[in-house]
Amino acid sequence: MKIIRTINYAQKLTTKLREQKKIIGFVPTMGYLHKGHLSLIKEAKKKSDIVFLSIYVNPLQFGPKEDLSRYPRNLKRDEMLCRRAGVDYIFYPEDKIMYPEGYSTYAVVENLTRGLEGKFRPGHFKGVTTIVLKLLNIIQPHYSVFGQKDAQQAAVIKKMTEDLNINTKIIISPTIRETDGLAMSSRNIYLTKEQRADAPYLNKALEYAKRKIQLDNYNKDIDFLRSQMSKLIKSRKTATKIDYISFNDYNTLEEIKSFKNNKKKSILISLAVRFGKVRLIDNIIIKR
Ligand code: PAF
Repeated sequence: MKIIRTINYAQKLTTKLREQKKIIGFVPTMGYLHKGHLSLIKEAKKKSDIVFLSIYVNPLQFGPKEDLSRYPRNLKRDEMLCRRAGVDYIFYPEDKIMYPEGYSTYAVVENLTRGLEGKFRPGHFKGVTTIVLKLLNIIQPHYSVFGQKDAQQAAVIKKMTEDLNINTKIIISPTIRETDGLAMSSRNIYLTKEQRADAPYLNKALEYAKRKIQLDNYNKDIDFLRSQMSKLIKSRKTATKIDYISFNDYNTLEEIKSFKNNKKKSILISLAVRFGKVRLIDNIIIKR
């Protein structure tokens, strides 16, 4: 396994690999890898001859009051995990080569980025789509794998690649959870012992809603369901603020206000909750 730090080298290499008819799989990350990332690597390996993984904490997708400076980093450990998982190349650029002085070009996906995370994290998706577009241009992968845990991000990136005719297939891989249901995330490291004990209630609330929706005799009142989920989460002392609990069409991300005219749609229920300074997101998809 090799670590690549320059764009020039990465592009020459991937161009050569494509000429040799190798299938390239790509897993973009911000590092501090966990089992969720390992499952993305596994997915990429299934489809490809060569797997690239990028590690880059992208400053453009963090708001001024967010956790950029304290975002966890551990290259040595990430390197070891990648080697074990069978990654071929880690792309590990520095800020000055991704955004050199005078940098002024951005990718923006409209509409899909308005609600959910986009509402609470202004500018976040502009940062995500810009860096992902740059990475796709550098790595030129046949397959790019993203986690379902960031459901809106996955939808936005899929839309960007379709709209801009980018020659890569986006694969969305299921969320990996701890045994108590907490979705794996690099940010879980911030949780105190008490917050960590309360955090699985996010998944409990999502599972509760799923069970209710799937019950035939339930009257499916979304506001009631949301208030029950909210009660369940607020029953935990360390869950200090619910940013949103939202019901959306999984494909268009349009908000669903009633199940009545949406019988056949797959539903994405997503939420963002603050445990003190730690903000966690999670979601569940109800396929119908
Ligand atoms: O999901 C992430 O880790 C990041 O948003 C991504 C896709 C690597 C872009 O920085």
